[in-house]
Amino acid sequence: MDKLIVEGGHRLSGTVNISGSKNASLPILAAALLTDEPVRISRVPDVSDTNYMIQILSQLGASVERSSGTVRIESPDGISSSASYEQVRKMRASICLLGPMMARMHRCTLPLPGGCVIGDRPVDLHLRAIQALGARVRVKGGNMVIEAPNGLVGTTVDMRGDSGPTVLGTDNLMMAAVLAKGTTIIESAAREPEVVDLANFLNKMGARIEGAGSRTITIHGVEKLHGCEHTVIPDRIEAGTFMVAGVMNVSDGITLNRVCREHMKSISDLLVECGHVVQYNEEGTSVFVKPGERPCSGKILTNPYPGYPTDMQAQMTALFALTPGISVVKDTIFPQRFMHCSELKRMGANIKVDNGTAIITGVDGLSGAPVMASDLRASAALVLAALAAEGTTDIHRLYHIDRGYEMLDDKLEILGARVKRVLDEDSGLGED
Ligand code: UD1
Repeated sequence: MDKLIVEGGHRLSGTVNISGSKNASLPILAAALLTDEPVRISRVPDVSDTNYMIQILSQLGASVERSSGTVRIESPDGISSSASYEQVRKMRASICLLGPMMARMHRCTLPLPGGCVIGDRPVDLHLRAIQALGARVRVKGGNMVIEAPNGLVGTTVDMRGDSGPTVLGTDNLMMAAVLAKGTTIIESAAREPEVVDLANFLNKMGARIEGAGSRTITIHGVEKLHGCEHTVIPDRIEAGTFMVAGVMNVSDGITLNRVCREHMKSISDLLVECGHVVQYNEEGTSVFVKPGERPCSGKILTNPYPGYPTDMQAQMTALFALTPGISVVKDTIFPQRFMHCSELKRMGANIKVDNGTAIITGVDGLSGAPVMASDLRASAALVLAALAAEGTTDIHRLYHIDRGYEMLDDKLEILGARVKRVLDEDSGLGED
């Protein structure tokens, strides 16, 4: 297991390219199971989550080739309808195999995902959706055994849960419905750009999906899907993370290429509200960010897209820790997602967490410390804090960040940061 040693205080400047979206890639890779023809997907980031997904697809019997960001998948008839616990437990997002497996084989056995550090993470909405299309669900030996012997039949399904719409739940229903009989209408659908990217990919395969990106998605079932080529959208969370690095007090201004301005609105708007400089090129594909002269505190209430993403609140908390005034971060989607706060406090941050809300009083400086990454975005927050801290920070359990940031060390070095990845001698420390 690796740790990252970050020497804080080095000035950041320069340009990096943003990778393809991890969260768009995962369901798109799974959707390759919907056809026996080859699909070619470009800009799939080389991160451990996409690698897990590729491994699962191979284990199911698909043939997968990956070369420099492009993945070619062919899923012949006879692929397995059952995924192993060993593979699936490594990545909660493997739940998005449910839709394509049900559409293609009308049955699947998938290990029931457990909770994770950011919350309970139920799958009730996924199951409600597949049941509405006519499937029967049983839980046996820790697995979900789902069967629809007579095939899936379209209907109207409301996907709204207590915390709003579900992203992968919407993806699963869309993928299940593309080969179902008749028409499926998804009410209260998630509107995230990653859902739209999946719908575009499915339509290229011959699906008939309308309305992705709005609250109501209509899917007219078709007999068969075919192969296609697709390029994944830029990763708006990776872009947002680097934007935060670019407005921290150690930055002289950085440029990010291969971004999509439209997807970045809530993230860009907040940085501007907090007094920072955010300048896009005319096409909205490149952005220059630098710290404002008088940065001010801010307020975040996470919400489903187009609201502020829960996946960006930890990184902003690191920025607020060094911003004068009192900032407030409330996460309504994952109210327990504040593990990074105790680690930031070890670096000198002044944060109080209560009832799904962090109250951050800006301090003049942070100091490097040994810290523990707890989940993907929490780790990103620790890296950001470490860049601006005085002294050296050792970030343990780096595997969390490797789930979702492609070539993070290289990109940080291009920008002038001093980071070193080493084998963690203390890896046994409190490991769970
Ligand atoms: C996706 C993203 C994740 C992001 C999250 C919210 C991927 C691979 N992951 O996760 O990075 O943080 O969206 O933007 O795209 N819920 C239920 N029942 C369900 C499913 C979800 O109650 O069956 C709740 C969740 O606990 C949460 C809310 O709905 O409170 C939204 O979660 P959801 O959108 O489903 O998250 P994911 O799709 O798993």
